[in-house]
Amino acid sequence: MKKIAVIGFGFMGVVHAKNIINSGNLELCGIVDNRPVDIFADLNKTGNQGALDLPVERLRQTPVFKTLEECADKVQPDAVVICVPLFLHYELTKKALNLGLDVLLEKPFCPEVAQCRELIALAEEKTRILMVAHCLRFAPQYEFLAQCIRDERYGKLRWLSTSRMGGEPTWGVWQNPEIKQTCGGSLLDLLIHDLDFVNYCFNAPADVKVNLHYDEYWEVALEYNHEAAISIKGGFLHCNTVFAAEYAATFERGSLRFCTLQPDVVHVGTDNGSQVITAGGDGYCEEMKHFADIITTRTQSLRCPAESSLQAIELCRDIRSQEE
Ligand SMILES: NC(=O)c1ccc[n+]([C@@H]2O[C@H](COP(=O)([O-])OP(=O)(O)OC[C@H]3O[C@@H](n4cnc5c(N)ncnc54)[C@H](O)[C@@H]3O)[C@@H](O)[C@H]2O)c1
Repeated sequence: MKKIAVIGFGFMGVVHAKNIINSGNLELCGIVDNRPVDIFADLNKTGNQGALDLPVERLRQTPVFKTLEECADKVQPDAVVICVPLFLHYELTKKALNLGLDVLLEKPFCPEVAQCRELIALAEEKTRILMVAHCLRFAPQYEFLAQCIRDERYGKLRWLSTSRMGGEPTWGVWQNPEIKQTCGGSLLDLLIHDLDFVNYCFNAPADVKVNLHYDEYWEVALEYNHEAAISIKGGFLHCNTVFAAEYAATFERGSLRFCTLQPDVVHVGTDNGSQVITAGGDGYCEEMKHFADIITTRTQSLRCPAESSLQAIELCRDIRSQEE
């Protein structure tokens, strides 16, 4: 059984810790967080999925450390899941790889393209697994869309429109104005999910054009050297506004619609009528299962390669440069 430590026990760290415990083939051997408070105090108010059904007692039994070095020394993990603010992604991933650990790093990869490249090379040099946690690639509702694009069961894709909006985060490090400045805004924090997902579907870098940008709201159009039109839009709403992500896709012989406000189904319309496809399931859970597989088989992820996570950063850079 592979031993995994979670670094950063906030909004996402809690989710990954739960999925490690529930996986059956991974052991949560440690948690690293440098907050000067009891990190288990407000567990039921945190986490990315509302009522998380957390294994609270099991979490409380997990050894907690203030630094990665201390954790590596005391409990010898095989791998770490890094869920700290973006400005620490490079430093902590580099440290973990140099300690000989496999790494699942929360998205986005790193703020600078050169940092991403350096970490990919370091993982290769140390023969360690490095994967960036782009969870949409593992979400059943989005995987259904990807399959329809690939197998053309409704014909070729004509256009795809995605949207992702929610209240500006109010939790964890987002409460610190200085750290908030380093989180990359809605483009790197939110829209990168959809930008990476369309890269995944079309397996190529895109030409991109900004159609609208105002404050933390973006509308971008992507072109993948084929006939379909792709629009990605979204951003931060006023804090405490409900989150929703959705897509609409039109193919030659049918359309798909999905919204996270009705999370377990995708609606399909064709000449034969409408159909409701059940596509429930938890992308974070599937993502962790995949990470368990690749650290066992010792193969870099083909489903979510670090190189394509780097491409998503390049795409964001490209988008931002059009506004400068
Ligand atoms: N995949 C998704 O859907 C998703 C959703 C939200 C956030 N994220 C990503 O997850 C990462 C973390 O975001 P979050 O919302 O969980 O943040 P958060 O503020 O809730 O949690 C971050 C935690 O890291 C801890 N931390 C900070 N510096 C540390 C250090 N040096 N060593 C150990 N722990 C340290 C903090 O104390 C905090 O508990 C970010 O990269 C973010 O983009 C991904």
